[in-house]
Amino acid sequence: MAKEALTLGEKPVGDDPFALFANWLGDAEGSEPNDPNAMALATVDEAGLPDVRMVLLKGFDAAGFVFYTNFESNKGRQLLASGKAALCFHWKTLRRQVRIRGPVAVVGEAEADAYFASRPLGSRIGAWASDQSRPLESREVLETRVAELGERYGDGAVPRPAHWSGFRLAPLQIEFWHDGAFRLHDRAVFSRQDEAGGWRIERLYP
Ligand SMILES: Cc1cc2nc3c(=O)[nH]c(=O)nc-3n(C[C@H](O)[C@H](O)[C@H](O)COP(=O)(O)O)c2cc1C
Repeated sequence: MAKEALTLGEKPVGDDPFALFANWLGDAEGSEPNDPNAMALATVDEAGLPDVRMVLLKGFDAAGFVFYTNFESNKGRQLLASGKAALCFHWKTLRRQVRIRGPVAVVGEAEADAYFASRPLGSRIGAWASDQSRPLESREVLETRVAELGERYGDGAVPRPAHWSGFRLAPLQIEFWHDGAFRLHDRAVFSRQDEAGGWRIERLYP
């Protein structure tokens, strides 16, 4: 018997997970009221204890999924130490989930500089002002720092802090999940041994 063509919500899955992801993200851009590019980023700390928080996807292609952060934050330290992460998107209005796992690498300096330069002035100043994830005595301390940095960099020429850059997660596994009636959801998993390998596609029980 011929193997059934894989479908999700009756649409064909195809053989390119990045194309399918682009499709789903495009749908989310049309349906989600806020931040369709928001994703949960999971890491582990040095004791192996999982940690998770939201970040924004700032780019993706066949090389991987890119997000930016402070490298001295909890997540920054965890990513630099373990070199691995997982991502999860949940688009509520579409009733879809995408899960992604793999190794992470720091993006190139030029790529990080270009993205940093594209951010609004306030966000660039914020990257300098925030000692992300470390204790803050009061809101006032942060506001004073922002005001001081605003005076220093008011002309708009804000350099990228050395501790602020991006990570690219190169997926070894991407799972697409589409809600089905009576919890009989559709799940399709693309997996590969390494970044150069071809994708194996499987349907999973919900
Ligand atoms: C929708 C949303 C998007 C966020 N995007 C980012 C982001 O792109 N980068 C970032 O460093 N923090 C982002 N944050 C804040 C993080 O969730 C988190 O509070 C912060 O980075 C500190 O995390 P850590 O202590 O685990 O390092 C975002 C939060 C939300 C709710």
